[in-house]
Amino acid sequence: MSQTVRGVIARAVGQPVELVDIVVPDPGPGEAVVKVQACGVCHTDLHYREGGINDEFPFLLGHEAAGVVESVGAGVTEVAPGDFVILNWRAVCGQCRACRRGRPQYCFNTHNAIQKMTLTDGTELSPALGIGAFADKTLVAAGQCTKVDPAAPATVAGLLGCGVMAGIGAAINTGGVSRGDSIAVIGCGGVGAAAIAGSRLAGAARIIAIDLDERKLTGATELGATHTINSSGLDTDAVVAAIQALTDGFGADVVVDAVGRPETYRQAFYGRDLAGTVVLVGVPTPELMLELPLIDVFGRGGSLKSSWYGDCLPSRDFPMLIDLYLQGRLPLEKFVSETIGIGDIEAAFAKMNHGDVLRSVVVL
Ligand SMILES: NC(=O)c1ccc[n+]([C@@H]2O[C@H](COP(=O)([O-])OP(=O)(O)OC[C@H]3O[C@@H](n4cnc5c(N)ncnc54)[C@H](O)[C@@H]3O)[C@@H](O)[C@H]2O)c1
Ligand SMILES: [Zn+2]
Ligand SMILES: [Zn+2]
Repeated sequence: MSQTVRGVIARAVGQPVELVDIVVPDPGPGEAVVKVQACGVCHTDLHYREGGINDEFPFLLGHEAAGVVESVGAGVTEVAPGDFVILNWRAVCGQCRACRRGRPQYCFNTHNAIQKMTLTDGTELSPALGIGAFADKTLVAAGQCTKVDPAAPATVAGLLGCGVMAGIGAAINTGGVSRGDSIAVIGCGGVGAAAIAGSRLAGAARIIAIDLDERKLTGATELGATHTINSSGLDTDAVVAAIQALTDGFGADVVVDAVGRPETYRQAFYGRDLAGTVVLVGVPTPELMLELPLIDVFGRGGSLKSSWYGDCLPSRDFPMLIDLYLQGRLPLEKFVSETIGIGDIEAAFAKMNHGDVLRSVVVL
């Protein structure tokens, strides 16, 4: 059995997304069908549609979602119909080397649904990040459903499913930001702004927001930035000098690159203090190359890290962050710039490119 619902697909590089009928199979063993209630528009969806992730078109876009479990397949015990869940793209396997040595956040065999969702003509869809939630319903592995307190609105909860978790985790989990630290965040869209909110939560003393767009810097200040740098028209040396000027001449303990370009990476690399940490969370496109003097990589010490999904463990981090939100300690609602319909995703991409929004959230 299966059901036909609406979904948003990208058919080919550069083509506008289309709202079409998709076929969602009933859940098989270990799978769940989730009725999607809200799904944020993440820059990674646009990377998919531009062919920047891989070429497995057509993609079923959307991956930052919350909803209610509709049905589960055989053997599913972790969730049941009616549960309010955030969808995650890190359903850890428990078996791989990373899982067995107690580092499941680095699991390299994460679970997705085994069956395929399709177009009505049978063409198999590639769900973005194994989720595909710009759709009335989606089929996922049961482990991709993380139960959280249903008191949180879906529009807010869903954001933890990708960008906001990636940003908070880039600062706290990967960067290890804690009380008294200084941090600079380059690029203050949804991901970077979340790194700022996470740094405040962790007790960072100086939180420097860097962006080309003054509106993003205003938003970052509302989320906890103590200082801002508008880097539009500034070269690497000037950005580094500005970070140093705000950190007693030293540079920041941690710099998060939430853009993912060679120039922003160089700003991060030189903008941190000696022995400081760079966290790359922005996703570069495949053609980008980085050149750095190797002697500087050696001589400046510290660590150069990448952060996939904020090194999160959904079962540990999602319920905790939702609880902090419900207690008024993490203003997730500030990330929702607008709610839109499922037909408005191209317009949301344009707004994202123009810097008009932190997050547009599709409500279903
Ligand atoms: N690593 C992960 O797990 C993960 C998860 C989600 C998203 N991402 C990636 O994070 C990045 C940011 O995503 P987002 O949703 O916040 O995007 P966004 O488009 O909302 O934000 C990007 C921000 O960067 C700013 N910016 C662009 N170029 C800049 C520059 N040279 N210097 C300073 N600021 C600059 C823009 O003005 C904008 O505010 C994307 O590459 C996305 O794919 C990574
Ligand atoms: Zn594993
Ligand atoms: Zn995303």
